[in-house]
Amino acid sequence: MKSIAILGSTGSIGQSALAVVDAHPDRLRVVALAAGANAARLADQYTRYRPSLVALATEAAGREFEAALSGGRPPAIAFGPEALLSVATHPEADIVLFASSGTAALDAVLAAIEAGKTIALANKEILVMAGAIVMAAARARGVAVLPVDSEHNAIHQCLHGRDPREVRRLVLTASGGPFRTCAADALARVTPEDALRHPTWRMGPKITIDSATLMNKGLEVIEARWLFDAGADRISVVVHPQSIVHSMVEFVDGSVIAQLGVTDMQLPIQYAFSFPERWRAPVPPLDLTAAGRLEFEPADVERFPCLALAFRALAGDPGLPIVLNAANEIAVAGFLQHRLPFLGIPELIREAMDAYDRCEPSLVSGLDDVRRVDRWAREFATRSMAGVK
Ligand SMILES: NC(=O)c1ccc[n+]([C@@H]2O[C@H](COP(=O)([O-])OP(=O)(O)OC[C@H]3O[C@@H](n4cnc5c(N)ncnc54)[C@H](OP(=O)(O)O)[C@@H]3O)[C@@H](O)[C@H]2O)c1
Repeated sequence: MKSIAILGSTGSIGQSALAVVDAHPDRLRVVALAAGANAARLADQYTRYRPSLVALATEAAGREFEAALSGGRPPAIAFGPEALLSVATHPEADIVLFASSGTAALDAVLAAIEAGKTIALANKEILVMAGAIVMAAARARGVAVLPVDSEHNAIHQCLHGRDPREVRRLVLTASGGPFRTCAADALARVTPEDALRHPTWRMGPKITIDSATLMNKGLEVIEARWLFDAGADRISVVVHPQSIVHSMVEFVDGSVIAQLGVTDMQLPIQYAFSFPERWRAPVPPLDLTAAGRLEFEPADVERFPCLALAFRALAGDPGLPIVLNAANEIAVAGFLQHRLPFLGIPELIREAMDAYDRCEPSLVSGLDDVRRVDRWAREFATRSMAGVK
């Protein structure tokens, strides 16, 4: 029996993770759950899984949660940033799944590593912001960081048992998002509603917009750099609209090993929970004859400049990925609120990166530096967006 703590249990990944727990009641149990504001859904989850600790982002959400409870109360209810730390270091948890959006859980990831927990990581923004620090902490503590993002999970599967010196290249696949075939001028007019209609994956709003701009792939390139200790020159991206090949590894002899599967996040989540074992999955098997053609094409960085910006960030000053991530969060929120056009997203990020390159570069060596650059970029992007408006 493995004990699981989940940060972000009310979101898309969190709910898929609980479906995996449902499929394996003899192997998995939930000991702690954290959510942001969705008190009603968290109350339902509490009633079903009876964790000993639940956490919410604010005191107000905590009160709403208590009001929504029907029969029984958790032994502990916590709220605020400290609450995430308590969930991430719950004494009974073997595995902590990080499935909240944004970077609020950075300290919680580091605390879970320090507490010796196995990390199941969906929350890619954390590695983009502080990959060097997180992975160094995990190595020092001897803790496994198991990727839940389907592409990195695929690469983890392809690399398992291989000598890293035999690897030539990691190849991340991208669906291309809802605007893959959209003409460049039409992109100027797309709305948040258009962008939220992803062709192959059902996900939370932030990552769905990131998929539409291809920033999601850019963040994943940076995530792969840290997870697999591979330089940007050894990571490439190929568009694969069917999302059946989840990613590939090319070895020095030219052989390419790929991982294929149905498009259901329960599979990579279960892999992280079961690793190093494999368990029966609660999803239908892949039927390649029904899948039909598998297509591959190069990514178009002219129409989707966010991907090129991510490669630029990885090649430049260590502060640039932090700026890229922070400016992107502000820009995506602005786009969702109809305050920024779709093409304004890469523009705002580029502007922040240019400004950082011009006047801010400085040593980024510890968490304080990471936070300082993150704050600077958020303030810059917020001010700049107000001007754009
Ligand atoms: N969805 C996917 O298929 C997918 C695939 C790969 C990677 N990822 C990554 O996984 C992460 C989650 O994605 P998602 O699609 O599941 O997002 P989502 O549906 O928007 O869910 C986000 C979750 O985070 C919680 N949350 C937000 N702020 C919080 C805070 N301050 N404290 C505690 N919890 C907080 C939300 O709680 P409330 O709803 O209660 O406010 C919700 O449970 C992202 O980093 C994303 O890039 C997702």
